[in-house]
Amino acid sequence: MDAITMIKERRSVRQFKDQKVDRELMKEIVDIARWAPSWANFQVARYTLVDDKSIIQKLGTDGVKGFSYNVKTLENAQGVAVLSFVKGKSGKLDKDEYATNKANVWEVFDAGIACQTFCLAAHAKGVGTCIFGVIDDKAISSIVGLPEEETVATLIVYGYEEGDHAAATPRKQVDDILRFV
Ligand SMILES: Cc1cc2nc3c(=O)[nH]c(=O)nc-3n(C[C@H](O)[C@H](O)[C@H](O)COP(=O)(O)O)c2cc1C
Repeated sequence: MDAITMIKERRSVRQFKDQKVDRELMKEIVDIARWAPSWANFQVARYTLVDDKSIIQKLGTDGVKGFSYNVKTLENAQGVAVLSFVKGKSGKLDKDEYATNKANVWEVFDAGIACQTFCLAAHAKGVGTCIFGVIDDKAISSIVGLPEEETVATLIVYGYEEGDHAAATPRKQVDDILRFV
């Protein structure tokens, strides 16, 4: 799959087959995602992959604030990547001072790049994903036992897509989002 097709044809997948994704394949996907760029190459993103049904169920009941879309998606998900990042590094050039007025926002930025890289790698390998923003990060940290120095950025549900590939969602026209100066 070429890069342009990979970018344009990735969709959020919310219906999954009753088939687990092999851990070796998920390891390959993270092995691709680790090539994402990051602030000062600090590589703060971490991936905790959950494929135990009872823990996925717990994420559904306690980890998505009862948001019905996400509860429903988790009911048929075969795996969930808890994407976290090591806090307090990105945005700094020396030990204590943030280098820009965005302060620690760069750690979330790094996590976003890691997230999209993971989703594109998964898509290229035939695995569907859906990013969740409606989450309870503290509850998720406790469910999966994240180390103290990390915080949850997002959940990425993954699995083999059930049915036809999700239809393309609309996008703004290039002239609506682009300006040259
Ligand atoms: C930061 C972020 C948070 C999102 N949160 C959710 C979510 O909580 N639940 C959900 O079903 N989809 C969520 N999505 C998926 C978006 O709805 C989806 O990407 C958008 O509608 C475009 O569709 P596409 O991904 O199929 O191209 C999220 C996407 C992003 C990037």
